[in-house]
Amino acid sequence: MTTASHPVETSYWVIVPAAGTGKRMGADKPKQYLSLAGKPLIQHTLENILGWPGLTGIVVAIAADDQEFSTLVAARDPRVHTVTGGTERADSVLAALDYLSELATPETSVLVHDAARPLVHKSDIESLVVASPTALLAQPASDTVKQSREESGKPVVRQTLPRQQIWLAQTPQKAPLQMLREALQAGLAQNPQAITDEASALELAGYAPELVPACRSNFKVTHPADLVLAEVLLQHRQTLEQLQSGTEQ
Ligand code: C5P
Repeated sequence: MTTASHPVETSYWVIVPAAGTGKRMGADKPKQYLSLAGKPLIQHTLENILGWPGLTGIVVAIAADDQEFSTLVAARDPRVHTVTGGTERADSVLAALDYLSELATPETSVLVHDAARPLVHKSDIESLVVASPTALLAQPASDTVKQSREESGKPVVRQTLPRQQIWLAQTPQKAPLQMLREALQAGLAQNPQAITDEASALELAGYAPELVPACRSNFKVTHPADLVLAEVLLQHRQTLEQLQSGTEQ
C-alpha cells in the first residue's frame, strides 16, 4: 500500500561493505574499528544509517575472522544483519546482495554505503532516495584537474582536464537489487579490476547512473589524518545538535 507520507518506493535496504583490512591506514586493526571520538568508526556510520528516513534494514559484510562486529552497540539492533564478505569490495557487496535476495523483492532499492563514511548528511540521502533508480552521491571537482604521466620515475603533468565534467564518486550508490546483482556478477566475470564501485559495474552493463551532488563532509576515512578531520566534524555536529535541542526546549 502506498501512502502520501511514506510511499513504498522510498523504502530501501542498505549494504555496508566492511570486510576490508584498510591497509592504507597502516594501523594494527581494520580501519572500520579504529576509534573515532570514543567509538569505533563503523559504529558512527551505522548509527547514522539507522536514522535515515525510509530505511528497512542494513546488511553488513564482515570478514570471515571478524571478532569485533558482534561487540558493537549497533550490532544489537534487529534491523542490522551480517554476512561474510569476499576477497574484494565487489565480492563483499555481492555476498550481501545474495543474502538480501532471500529477504526482499528483485526491484527493492539498495543503497551501498562505505563503512568508512560516517559523516554523510541526511539531506543528501533524501536527495539520493528520490533521484533516478540508479544513482550515486558524488562531489563535483572544485580543483583544477591534472592527468599525469611518468618521467624519470616522477609524475609530471600530461594535460589539464576540463573539470566541468569531473565528479568524485562517493557512497551511497543506489540501484534495484537484482539489477545490481547481475551487473556485479557480469562485471566481476568480465573485468574485475574495473569494478571499483557499484556504479562502475552498472556502467559496464550499459546503465548511466545519475550523479547526485553531496556535501564535502562525506569523505572516506582513508589516511590517519582523515580520522582527526572526521573527529572535528563530528564534534562540531554534536555541538550543533545540542544547541538545536537546547533551543527547542
Ligand atoms: O579499502 P577501501 O577504503 O576502498 O574499502 C572500501 C570499503 O569496502 C570499506 O568499508 C571496506 O571495509 C570494504 N571492503 C569489503 N571487502 C573487501 C575489501 C573492502 O567489504 N574485501
